[in-house]
Amino acid sequence: MAATTPTQSEILKYLKESGGRFVSGADLADKFAISRTGIWKHIQKLKSMGYDIESHPKEGYRLLEVPDSLAVEEILPALRTEWLGRSYHYLETISSTNDHALFLAANGAPHGTVVVAETQTRGRGRLSREWLSLPNRGIYMSLLLRDPLPLRTAHLATYAAALSLAEVLRTEFGLSSSLKWPNDILISNRKAVGLLTEMQSDRDFSRFLVVGIGINVNFRREELSESFRYPATSIAIETGKPVKRQQVLLAFLHQFEKDYGEFLKNGFEGIVNRIETFSGILGKTITVLCGDREIRGKALGFTTEAALMLALDDGSRETIWAGDVTHVEGAI
Ligand code: BTN
Repeated sequence: MAATTPTQSEILKYLKESGGRFVSGADLADKFAISRTGIWKHIQKLKSMGYDIESHPKEGYRLLEVPDSLAVEEILPALRTEWLGRSYHYLETISSTNDHALFLAANGAPHGTVVVAETQTRGRGRLSREWLSLPNRGIYMSLLLRDPLPLRTAHLATYAAALSLAEVLRTEFGLSSSLKWPNDILISNRKAVGLLTEMQSDRDFSRFLVVGIGINVNFRREELSESFRYPATSIAIETGKPVKRQQVLLAFLHQFEKDYGEFLKNGFEGIVNRIETFSGILGKTITVLCGDREIRGKALGFTTEAALMLALDDGSRETIWAGDVTHVEGAI
């Protein structure tokens, strides 16, 4: 969606504040000190952007419905956070929101900057996999976090983000989801969210983190190609109806600001209990691919640094710091 001009966003704000009542063209012309034809042109532009505005020859204009847009003018007025997303960059197309956030970070963008794109031409996932980024279907975003975090634990901010999303899926949409270590969220055993954190650091501390998040919101089943390791799903498929991406994004930013605060204060220990309640693997027999090695065992829990503890078939225990869960007992 193209960006509005300052006057268009003011007109929009005024129509929204009028609570669905008609506002006359003359009033708008007075208020914004432009001609009625000028107002009409701005209204046409807003309509072309998806705003459903009724025009009436005598009564004027009234706003019936706003589009499900993630553009600045829809997100910023509704944002309930203190610092997260206050610097908000919305792009129609970008190679990857992570790349753009890394670029902004290198150029002094503030802590809490959020980059959202309608579509990505080279959206990427872990292990160099492509991330499907169709317009209007998903949320593709990257968060810039500038707190200096100890290098060993900085990447754990990803878990706080996954936790926040799982919470939002439950509270806003009644969906039960599971966190698949290290960085996927599954609904009905199908992948709905992927996270990819990238970092720049000094010797001991992170300089900044970019937490990239891809959420399948309104994808239809036929649009989601069966992925290599896990089949995919979307929130709309799971709830059985289209969902407002705005609602997902706004609720997530609000929740993550809280969960990240808890993580900063008390580290992974501050969130691990909640993570375990959402974990789809604890107590199950899983297979983890670590480099070339496949390890099979029962998932026991996480260490305070989010390493996964496995009880192997031969009775020994193994702590795994990085790997990819390729199979979970009982999952499709
Ligand atoms: C994965 O599951 O492998 C991680 C997927 C991460 C995708 C998101 S979409 C927004 C951000 N920009 C990217 O290029 N990737 C992440």
